Amino acid sequence: MSQPDYQLLCAQVRSFAEEDAHWLPLLSNVSALIMDTLTDLNWAGFYLADTRMQERSLLLGPFQGKVACVHIAFGKGVCGTAAAADEPQLVPNVHEFPGHIACDSASNSEVVIPLHAAGDVIGVLDIDSPLLARFSTEDFAGLKAVASTLDEVTDFSGLPLTK
Ligand code: SME
Repeated sequence: MSQPDYQLLCAQVRSFAEEDAHWLPLLSNVSALIMDTLTDLNWAGFYLADTRMQERSLLLGPFQGKVACVHIAFGKGVCGTAAAADEPQLVPNVHEFPGHIACDSASNSEVVIPLHAAGDVIGVLDIDSPLLARFSTEDFAGLKAVASTLDEVTDFSGLPLTK
C-alpha cells in the first residue's frame, strides 16, 4: 500500500484553516480529507470535550462513516482512554483493547489522538479501519502530525461545551 503524504495532509489542513479556522468547518473538512486520503477506513472523525454532564465526557463531532456513539466518558473505550491519559493510542486489534466501544462492528483497528487548546485536551481525532493492524508506525506518526497541526491552527471557540 502506498504511504499517504502526511506533510501534504498537514499543508492542506493549514490551507483550510486560512479560509476559516473555526472548528466546525475545519474538523468537518479534515474528517472528509482523511477519509478520502487513507485507504481502508470505515470511520474518521472527532469527539469533542463536553462538560455538561456530571462525568467529564466526549461528544460526537464532525465525522465521515456510519452513525456513531454520541457520548463517551473520559476513561472509557479507546477515545476516552486517549482523552483521560492525554496519550495517543495505536490499537492493532480493537477486540483486545479492554473496554473498546464498538460503534461499527466492522472496525478491527483504530488510532485515537488527543487534540489540545491552551494545553488542555479539547477532543480527539478517531480513525477506524476494518483491517487488523491497518495503521503502521508511520501512519501513527503522520496522524499525530495532523493532530498537532490542528492544535496549532484550530479556533476551538465554544469548546469545551458547557451548560
Ligand atoms: N471505538 C471507539 C468509539 C468511537 S467509534 O469507533 C466511532 C472507542 O472505543 O472509543
